[in-house]
Amino acid sequence: MLLKDRVVVITGAGRGMGRGIAEAVAEEGARVVATDLDGAAAEETAAALGDGDRTLAIALDVTRSESIEAAIDTVISNWGRIDGWVNNAGAIRMASAVETTSADWDLQFEVNAKGLFVCSQLAAQRMIEQSDGGAIVNIASNAGKAGYPNMVAYNASKAAVISITRSLAAEWAEHGINVNAVCPGGVDTPMLRECAEWIVERAGGDVDELLASMLPSQLGRHIQPGEVGRLVAFLLSERAQLIRGQSISSDGGDTPY
Ligand SMILES: NC(=O)c1ccc[n+]([C@@H]2O[C@H](COP(=O)([O-])OP(=O)(O)OC[C@H]3O[C@@H](n4cnc5c(N)ncnc54)[C@H](O)[C@@H]3O)[C@@H](O)[C@H]2O)c1
Repeated sequence: MLLKDRVVVITGAGRGMGRGIAEAVAEEGARVVATDLDGAAAEETAAALGDGDRTLAIALDVTRSESIEAAIDTVISNWGRIDGWVNNAGAIRMASAVETTSADWDLQFEVNAKGLFVCSQLAAQRMIEQSDGGAIVNIASNAGKAGYPNMVAYNASKAAVISITRSLAAEWAEHGINVNAVCPGGVDTPMLRECAEWIVERAGGDVDELLASMLPSQLGRHIQPGEVGRLVAFLLSERAQLIRGQSISSDGGDTPY
C-alpha cells in the first residue's frame, strides 16, 4: 500500500473526481478526510468508503479561511496530523469571453486559485509544525495549458494553479513537502455534463451524443474519476519524490506537453 495510515484531506470530495480520489487514496491504505462545500455529500463519500474508523467527513468551503482552519482543527483533534492534502474543489462558469462577467471571473479565481492557495498554506503550516514533511496534490486541468473557448476565466484560473504548484514546491522543499499537480482532460463527472449542457443549450443537439463525442484522442473513451485518483495517490506517496513542482497532463493524450 502506497499510503498506509497516512492522513489525507481531499477538498470537493462530495462527488465527481473528488469522490474517485477518496476511493483511490483509501485503497492505498490512507485515512481519508472527505471535505466538501456540501457537507451531506462529503458524508456520502465517507460512508461509501466503508470503514468509519478510517474516514472523516467535514463541511469545508475553500473560499473561507475560517472554514479551512476549523476543518484542520477537527482532523488534528481526531488523528493528530495531516500527511497529504488534495486540492480538488473546483468551479466552472462557461461563458464566451465577451460575456464573461466580473462575478464569473471572481468565483472561478476564488475557488480554483485563491482557495487552493489558502488551503495549501494552512495545510503546509501544519506539516511544517509536524517536521516530517508531507505532500500536496493540486487538481489543475489541461485547460490551464490549452485555451479552450468559452472558458477564459477557468483556463486562466487553472494556469494559476500550475504556477502556484511550481512556487510552493520550490519554497516548501526544505520542509520535505512535495507539491505537484495533475492536469486531467474531460473526466466523467457532473462538471463535464454541465459543460455539455451549456453547449447544447446554445448550439442545439443532444447532451449524451455530445458527451460521447468528447473523448480523449488517444484513449478513445472517457477518463474515470478513479483513474485520476490513482495518479493522485501515487503523487502523494514516497515513490513520487523525484517528481516535484510538476503539472502532469493526464488527459488521455490530448495535450502533448
Ligand atoms: N471533470 C472534468 O472534466 C475535469 C477536468 C479537469 C479538471 N477538473 C477539475 O477537477 C476538480 C473536480 O472536478 P469535478 O469534475 O469532479 O467537478 P464537480 O463539479 O463534479 O465536483 C466539484 C466538487 O467541488 C465542490 N466545491 C465547489 N465549490 C467549493 C468550495 N467553495 N469549497 C469546497 N468545495 C467546493 C462541489 O460541491 C463538488 O462536490 C475541479 O478542480 C475541476 O476543475 C475537472
